[in-house]
Amino acid sequence: MMDKATRLKVALQKSGRLTDNSLDLMVRCGLKYSRGKDQLMCYGENMPLDLLFVRDDDIPDLVQQDVCDLGIVGLNVIEEKRLAFQAKGVQPLFDQLMTLDYGKCRLSIAVPDGVEYKDARSLHGKRIATTYPNILARYLRQRDVQAEIVTLSGAVEIAPRLGRADFICDLVSTGSTLLANHLWEAETILESQAAIITTPVPVSAEKQDWIHRLTMRIDGVQQVKE
Ligand code: PRP
Ligand code: ZN
Ligand code: MG
Repeated sequence: MMDKATRLKVALQKSGRLTDNSLDLMVRCGLKYSRGKDQLMCYGENMPLDLLFVRDDDIPDLVQQDVCDLGIVGLNVIEEKRLAFQAKGVQPLFDQLMTLDYGKCRLSIAVPDGVEYKDARSLHGKRIATTYPNILARYLRQRDVQAEIVTLSGAVEIAPRLGRADFICDLVSTGSTLLANHLWEAETILESQAAIITTPVPVSAEKQDWIHRLTMRIDGVQQVKE
C-alpha cells in the first residue's frame, strides 16, 4: 500500500482552517479513503493516493525534502518558507502547481484601538509581533522602515496587551480575532489562499499521470462551484 514509486503522498493541515476544505476537495475529486489507526494518515482505496496530516508550517519542508509529493497549504506559509529558506542560503525548490478557491485571508498590520497609524512609516522604531518574520522583514526593508520584529509562534493578538509589542502583523480572515482583541486592521501586506505545492524531485510516470488527473478533477470541482 505504501509503494513510494506508485502512490502519491499528499500533506494536509492536521487541524486548522484548511483541514475540512482540503479533505472535502479530495472527496469531491472522487477519493474514497480509510483512516489509519493513529489518525495521522488516510489511505486512498480507489486511487493510489494517501493523505498525511501535519502542522501547516511543516508542509513546505516535507514537500521540499520529497517526504510528500504534494502539499496543500496557504500562500502565507509558502511565501514565509520561501523567504526563510533563502535567508538560510537554501534554494526553495518546491513548485507551486495551482491555487485553490478556499482559505482566503490576508496578512495585515493591526493596531491597538486608540493608536494612530498613517502608513508604513508609523512602524518606524516600533516593535511588531508576528509569526511571519520573513514576510514582515521584506515589507519593512522595501519601505526603508526600521522596526523590531518580535517573532512569536502563536497568540500574536495578545502581544500588545502584554506589552510585548506595539503592533502586530497577523492573518485576518473574518476579522473577529482582531475585534475581540481591540485591534484594527491598518494595512494588508499579503493576500493569501490555499495552494498546492509539488516536490522538486522528478516523480514516476505513473505518479505524474495521477497528479495530472487530480489537477483536472480539481479544475472541474472548482468550476462547478463558481
Ligand atoms: C489566524 C490568525 C488569527 C485568526 C484570524 O490563525 O493567527 O488567530 O486566524 O482569523 P479571523 O480573522 O477569522 O478571526 P490560523 O487559524 O491561521 O491558525 P495558525 O496560526 O495555527 O496557522
Ligand atoms: Zn500555522
Ligand atoms: Mg493563529
